Amino acid sequence: MTAIAGSERPGLQALDVIRLRTDFPILARTVHGKPLVYLDNAATTQKPRVVLETLASYYTDINANVHRGVHELSGRATDAYEASRERVRAFFGAASTQEIIFTRNATEGVNLVAYSFVKPRLRAGDEILITAMEHHSNIVPWQLACEGTGATLKVAPIDDRGALILDEFERMLTPRTRIAAVTHMSNALGTITPVADIVRLAHANGVPVLIDASQAAYHMPVDVRALDCDFLVATGHKLYGPTGIGVLFGKASHLETMPPFLGGGDMIGSVTFERSTWNALPYKFEAGTPNIAGAIGLHAALDYIEGVGFEAIALHERELLEYGTGVLESIEGVRLIGTAPRKASILSFVMDGIHPHDIGTIVDREGVAIRTGHHCAQPVMERFGIPATARASLAMYNTREELDALGRALRKVREVFV
Ligand SMILES: Cc1ncc(COP(=O)(O)O)c(C=O)c1O
Repeated sequence: MTAIAGSERPGLQALDVIRLRTDFPILARTVHGKPLVYLDNAATTQKPRVVLETLASYYTDINANVHRGVHELSGRATDAYEASRERVRAFFGAASTQEIIFTRNATEGVNLVAYSFVKPRLRAGDEILITAMEHHSNIVPWQLACEGTGATLKVAPIDDRGALILDEFERMLTPRTRIAAVTHMSNALGTITPVADIVRLAHANGVPVLIDASQAAYHMPVDVRALDCDFLVATGHKLYGPTGIGVLFGKASHLETMPPFLGGGDMIGSVTFERSTWNALPYKFEAGTPNIAGAIGLHAALDYIEGVGFEAIALHERELLEYGTGVLESIEGVRLIGTAPRKASILSFVMDGIHPHDIGTIVDREGVAIRTGHHCAQPVMERFGIPATARASLAMYNTREELDALGRALRKVREVFV
């Protein structure tokens, strides 16, 4: 990636965003006759050309089912699929590819752990600990796991800025806690949680930890061995990769003890009508034909991210977040929701007397794509006493000019309603 001057830290290359944007074909399109300003990255990111080309070339050149054929194409598809697993292992710093399971998305990863690791261990009186800023995908699977067991879900609170109250989290770790499941970064508030401290405190109490890295993983490096987490989930479509592919990391020592999540092809060792045995890790957890193209596309996306570099991405996004905060604060009647001291890339806000849905609809007419609603985090909305927010969320390709366009569009919203 080309660098430009302007970085204040010697040795750190700032992004040439104008050049980088040309890697993302969709960013050149218009919406309602206006240049697209895509600020809905927390929902899904846009895809660089290399990912699109990789998908096309997979289907054009080597499409075949994996792990099953002796023919040339099947071998090549299998090699590419397994090369992606190795890429994911390296990206998240896992010790072995045995610990990397391809899922459909982050949600499936949480469900897999809830069903196969936690539920079989739950007894009446047991607890599962989450935080008040979780996405529904890290709430509902735990409610389902508790059902019929007499176990309960405990929720560590957040403060008025949207930061986790770590002392409370620690206090809520009890001898009955069977898992702590915590987001690394809130999709509704942008808060970055102190995951290293969370794992340390939980482990000191003998509690395993699942980290939801769905948001964090495309903004900052996430290393499962440095964190020493037990499980981690991520989702390909936020990592500039395809939809329908996700990642579950689990420590092999846990995965080995767990029963399969889904049954069917590829996850078996042998099958008779009387009894089946399970395949080795990680295949025990990959039933049926996997998303081969998705995994291969994800490989290209991770290469792309690392080619740009997290240091440069984080620096650029931090500057944008500061600039965007200033833009929003300059508009009368705007109130930011989520102002934790450690936050990244998310500007959630409300406007006096104007429903977020109306904000989203009007700015869309200006070509500006933001998200409005509860962002699959209804308890966060409840915590702040609001039904919904408008949310602008940033990625590596956004610019100050786009945040200015958001500001202009929001001033139009005020003209309409105030
Ligand atoms: C923090 C967080 N967790 C989990 C998810 C679920 O991701 P997916 O729908 O890809 O499973 C999201 C998606 O918005 C998210 O932001």
